[in-house]
Amino acid sequence: MTNIVIFASGNGSNFEKIMENIEAGYLSGINVIGLYTDNHEAFAIERARRFRLPVHIFNRKSFNDKEDYETAVLKQLTRDQVEWIVLAGYMKLLGPTLLNAYPGRILNIHPSILPSFPGKNAVGQALSYGCRVTGATVHYVDSGMDTGKIIDQMSCPVYEDDTEETLQLRIQNLEYELYPRVINKIIQVRSSQ
Ligand code: GAR
Repeated sequence: MTNIVIFASGNGSNFEKIMENIEAGYLSGINVIGLYTDNHEAFAIERARRFRLPVHIFNRKSFNDKEDYETAVLKQLTRDQVEWIVLAGYMKLLGPTLLNAYPGRILNIHPSILPSFPGKNAVGQALSYGCRVTGATVHYVDSGMDTGKIIDQMSCPVYEDDTEETLQLRIQNLEYELYPRVINKIIQVRSSQ
């Protein structure tokens, strides 16, 4: 079994889909130790409770700086014997404390075909740019904003009458397929090496 945690700051629908895949037996070698969040109001917390998963809330404002904050997170990760970190709508850049502790073992999902539209509101950016195709990317995490090595991508069309909501829904449906698939491939294979 490979111990992973999910980091989420908000809604948590990708987190829930990962859990559903585990319950369905698709991600059989993966053990989700808990949900880590930086937002005590994240709906992801509600979802974690439904799966009876431990939740750890780290409020950045309770710490002097990012290093202190990440040191506290790392302490809990070590206690939980976590091997991989899976970011699913975690809206903070990771600093050296976490990056150095988990080299090549942090994944992120982003709602665009990177390197286009990194950062916030990738869906709105693709729409206002007039893209006819967009999608989702899973990549390793480095110190940049959605800049780490790309692992896999899926694409979808953008229609004339799309709004941010309709396009986001289409992209999220890609994400629900893409993330479990990548987790299955990368984490299971690399953990067994
Ligand atoms: C997802 O679409 C994810 O790709 C995006 O946040 C959403 C979270 O949704 N992440 C980023 O934009 C990271 N730069 P969820 O909380 O419902 O899983």
